[in-house]
Amino acid sequence: MHETLTTDFGYKNIPVNEKNNRVAEVFQSVSGKYDLMNDLMSFGLHRLWKKFTVELAQLQNGDSVLDVAGGTGDLIKAFTKKIGHEGRAILLDINEAMLNVGRDRLLNNGLTEVKVIQANAEYLPFAESSFDCLSIAFGLRNVTHKEIALQAMYRVLKPGGRLLVLEFSKPILGFLETLYDRYSFDFLPKLGAWIANDELSYRYLVESIRCHPDQNSLQTLILNAGFDECEYYNLSGGIVALHRAWKF
Ligand SMILES: C[S@@+](CC[C@H](N)C(=O)[O-])C[C@H]1O[C@@H](n2cnc3c(N)ncnc32)[C@H](O)[C@@H]1O
Repeated sequence: MHETLTTDFGYKNIPVNEKNNRVAEVFQSVSGKYDLMNDLMSFGLHRLWKKFTVELAQLQNGDSVLDVAGGTGDLIKAFTKKIGHEGRAILLDINEAMLNVGRDRLLNNGLTEVKVIQANAEYLPFAESSFDCLSIAFGLRNVTHKEIALQAMYRVLKPGGRLLVLEFSKPILGFLETLYDRYSFDFLPKLGAWIANDELSYRYLVESIRCHPDQNSLQTLILNAGFDECEYYNLSGGIVALHRAWKF
């Protein structure tokens, strides 16, 4: 009997081979309003979550860093300040529309030395042991095969290198969970409709957060992909978590 493999797309189950295209449609559609919506949806908090990520990256002058699913380039922009002109910074994303916004922002900030590459996180086009640091912020939950992407990230990290995974997670305070559910399901899709004229994409974003592994499950996934150590930090009561993993 022939079995069709399926995967999650928000709360829907779809054939595995359709997920990349469906995710692409979402980010193609939201790219123009992505940065504004990020600020509105998180009340600016995403800036603090990213600032913490940059601190924990512990980058030094001359380091090489890759931001996977980097979209409009927030993290890579901050990383370049830490690694200086000697360093190597690459912004990678699967989506051309998001990268176009990212590339324009980098150029407008005079950051001409950042390389911009369109590729799938599951097939990173780099040699083994290429980077001191890798990051993926709010991207992993959109990737079809998370284990394969994590294995690819492990492969391209240098020994001693670290991976930072910033992602929505599971609130650790009960009362926050109820409040957050109401906010996410009742308000966010309406905000998406109002600002970006796109309710469905924002409904997908909310649902995809709920389908993503919680803090401990993600830690296990990361360790199973080969990483030698992984710790995590709950941010804003666990609405977001930052996992930092090491390759020794
Ligand atoms: C929510 S955005 C996050 C963008 C940015 N990292 C940030 O924090 O603002 C998710 C990004 O993941 C990208 N993405 C989704 N699936 C991907 C994949 N398989 N490989 C690489 N990028 C992917 C999307 O195109 C999108 O730009």
